[in-house]
Amino acid sequence: MSGQPNNETSIDEIGDAIYRIYTPIQIPGVGGFSFNQYLIVDEAPLLFHTGLRRMFPVVRDAIARVMPPERLRYISFSHFEADECGALNEFLAIAPRAEPLCGQVAAMVSVNDVADRPARALGDGESLSLGRHEVRWLDTPHLPHAWECGVLFENRSSTLFCSDLFTQAGTGHPPVTESDILGPSEAARAEMDYYAHAKGSRQILERLAALKPTTLACMHGSAWRGDGASLLRALADRLEAA
Ligand SMILES: [Fe+2]
Ligand SMILES: [Fe+2]
Repeated sequence: MSGQPNNETSIDEIGDAIYRIYTPIQIPGVGGFSFNQYLIVDEAPLLFHTGLRRMFPVVRDAIARVMPPERLRYISFSHFEADECGALNEFLAIAPRAEPLCGQVAAMVSVNDVADRPARALGDGESLSLGRHEVRWLDTPHLPHAWECGVLFENRSSTLFCSDLFTQAGTGHPPVTESDILGPSEAARAEMDYYAHAKGSRQILERLAALKPTTLACMHGSAWRGDGASLLRALADRLEAA
């Protein structure tokens, strides 16, 4: 995916020391779209998604408004795709202690070949302390897409970094919303069906719902606050109806 960052990258705290970095772009022939990265500031700071490789300068500069980017300890991402991890090596180059953090399939299939340093590969359900925060990796193969796909759950704040689930098109999204995002994200999916429609989608979404997330940190659009379990189950219903 390509497009021009329009120098309007913003960074906002959406939870305790959890920040959304937001870059709206215009994609020729498609229209407005946005890319989020999430930064967890802690003893071992974690960046979830890097943005496209060409977005590296604006993402780095946004992080620098909150902490020195050189302090990053983990560069994590849901799956191996340019907007998720295109700037991985650029971040590894500026942050000497940083490691790629991903699932075991991603490490085996792509990351340990492409990344300039070996991955820290988390098993399904494995937790990792960042200091005050603790993240848990959950495999979500092919949901919404990619064999190696997974999500991170932050145990203390009940934040689910849900990657491409609930993608909202357009620009101008507030950092956090409590308004409906299922309708807008289903409208986006109707336009561009980016799901693999894996057979196990209901079970995977049910497993995420059982975590009872109260914030869904979406990769495209606003983060969402509310009853995450209900919203994930509603998504499962919509996928089955499709
Ligand atoms: Fe993706
Ligand atoms: Fe994405």
